[in-house]
Amino acid sequence: MADIDALVAELTRTEKLALVRGAEDPEGTATGYLPGVPRLDIPPLRLVDGPLGIRAEGERSTAFPATLAAAATFDPDLAREQGAAMAREARAHDQDALLAPGVNVLRVPHCGRNFEYLSEDPVLASDCSRALVAGIESEDVIATVKHFVANNQETGRTTVSADVHERTLRELYLPPFRAAVEAGVGSVMTAYNRVNGTHMSDHEPLLSDVLKDEWGFAGYVVSDWYGLESTVGAANAGLDVEMPGVPSGPDDPDEEFEWPDGIPDGTRAGLFGEPLAAAIDDGSVPADRLDDMVARVLGQMARIGLLDGRDRPGELDSERHRDLARDVAARGTVLLENDGVLPLSDDADVALVGPHVHDAKLGGGGSSETTPFHSVSPVDGLTDRAGGPVTSARGIPEIENVSLFDLLPFVDSGHETDDSDGPDEEPSLDAAVAAAEDADVAIVCVRDATTEARDRDSLALPGRQDKLVEAVAAANDRTVVVLRTGGPVETPWRDDVAAVVEQWYPGQADGAALADVLYGDRDPSGRLPVTFAPEESYPTSDERRFPGVDDVAHYDEGVFVGYRHFDASDDEPTYPFGHGHSYTTFEYGAATAVSDATVEVTVENVGDRAGRDVVQAYVRPPAVEGIDRPVREFAGAQPVALDPGESRTVTLALDELALSRYQDGWTVDSGRYTVEVGRSVADMRTTVTIER
Ligand code: NOJ
Repeated sequence: MADIDALVAELTRTEKLALVRGAEDPEGTATGYLPGVPRLDIPPLRLVDGPLGIRAEGERSTAFPATLAAAATFDPDLAREQGAAMAREARAHDQDALLAPGVNVLRVPHCGRNFEYLSEDPVLASDCSRALVAGIESEDVIATVKHFVANNQETGRTTVSADVHERTLRELYLPPFRAAVEAGVGSVMTAYNRVNGTHMSDHEPLLSDVLKDEWGFAGYVVSDWYGLESTVGAANAGLDVEMPGVPSGPDDPDEEFEWPDGIPDGTRAGLFGEPLAAAIDDGSVPADRLDDMVARVLGQMARIGLLDGRDRPGELDSERHRDLARDVAARGTVLLENDGVLPLSDDADVALVGPHVHDAKLGGGGSSETTPFHSVSPVDGLTDRAGGPVTSARGIPEIENVSLFDLLPFVDSGHETDDSDGPDEEPSLDAAVAAAEDADVAIVCVRDATTEARDRDSLALPGRQDKLVEAVAAANDRTVVVLRTGGPVETPWRDDVAAVVEQWYPGQADGAALADVLYGDRDPSGRLPVTFAPEESYPTSDERRFPGVDDVAHYDEGVFVGYRHFDASDDEPTYPFGHGHSYTTFEYGAATAVSDATVEVTVENVGDRAGRDVVQAYVRPPAVEGIDRPVREFAGAQPVALDPGESRTVTLALDELALSRYQDGWTVDSGRYTVEVGRSVADMRTTVTIER
């Protein structure tokens, strides 16, 4: 491997400055670009979005399910595979760094980017973060974990301050980033927002003290796009690379353009160019800070083989990538309710209803948008599986997609419009009801519309979709609702329907994965990584907390986010964290403690179909005077596939984070911890105690 210090010593200052400020990609496919130094055989570094698949400009790639769906599998091994496949596709597009994964903890159910993230729980988010990073980097691509840190809402994202106590940061919001660092992540992207008043690109205590010094992060910190606030502040705080470095804005520079909320001012770029040189000259930034920035970039380039010309062939739209996209989509599908209507029998007459039954739901709007080579709509997937025609009806008008790119008239995103691919006919509610009446089973596909840079106004389904569900349910008492959403939604009709399925944003394999689960070719093995509850019962339903007042979001709820809140209050979730039915039945034996950090439990499939359960462990801490702790914390899970009658002993390693609390440092209180093992936070099957 190259001697980085020797290489840095050979560089001129101009060359060094060019290695830390984004430039124009001559090929026009990268999202971010560092030009390299041809004189010393240092090639360019190409950075590309994003978490759901590769968004190389003008190119196609596999559209993987939303990372929230990958997290819903509760299976980090599968997330690791998704990371590795995305990295192979990045390389096929000649890209070196992937701007993924997004690992922010889901604090606000309305957040427009929840689909790009992982969970409301820091242990699950950390497990998936670690796995995605390891997968990406196993294929010699730099992973970029984002957005560091407390980027939990899109409203006011470029200015809002997340005012959050250190304990909460440590226990909830920082762990998925620490996990990424432990997994060897090569890059960390700063969030646009402020934390406790300071912009993250300028945040020395978090960038230098925590990330670099305490955690030993050896890679480079990159700004979010146009997210740099200052030259001296950022350089001294520990920010290493400015992106994209080249200004963007209306073609006519004199045109007055009001940058919409959530969109950073694209004309403000180049803070690390000449201004950084000047700051070094006048001594406000030490010269060795520039050397450190450059060494961090070159170190990562060396690690992935860019400096020794290692051959890094890629792989695009291969059969295994297509299969994996389908596998993750199916495995992440959550069966929220089922009165026995599912799985469908092979000869059932099905009516498939919904404004977008002819369109795969690829993802949400913004930098994670993907353009796949092919996709399977619900109609295509079900028709294929049913082996005969499936009656379909839109029922109501299309749901308008929203995208960050639509807010920027001068950006050609290349993203496809959301006009439905279906037949050109007026949607008719009567036709949908008639189709439902005539069928054995009515399946209604509904969706939300979320995007980067915007939060949802409400957790209700947009348009007239609730009305559509009610009308179909009134016409057929075997109605199945399939949710395709980027996070929790309200399901006011749930008592009137026979089953509810949550598919998240399933990506290109959409309809195929849906058929796999609806017909029972696969057991629905997804579990909720986030609590579904009535809108007003979330801890962030108070304006002071979300979206905040006077540009400050007060994280007053502390560590009581998600199920931690519902456990500690009288508010009842609709569907609790970890919840998800199977088509079979599992019985749990008595848990035993193998050590003070490991428990075992035997799980048996007592039903008559093969199934996959997700065995979950939660820890209840001992009471400590004066310390307000969650009732219980998720400590780990293990998916297990069992044939009918089969039983297996599952070992659960308890994550130390679930046992610890932060108060001027980490503490594990001595005493007795109750370990609960079960199928969700609200469905415990056995308990055992451990001593610390
Ligand atoms: C802004 C987004 O916040 C970030 O996630 C993305 O990677 C960059 N834009 C580049 O598109």
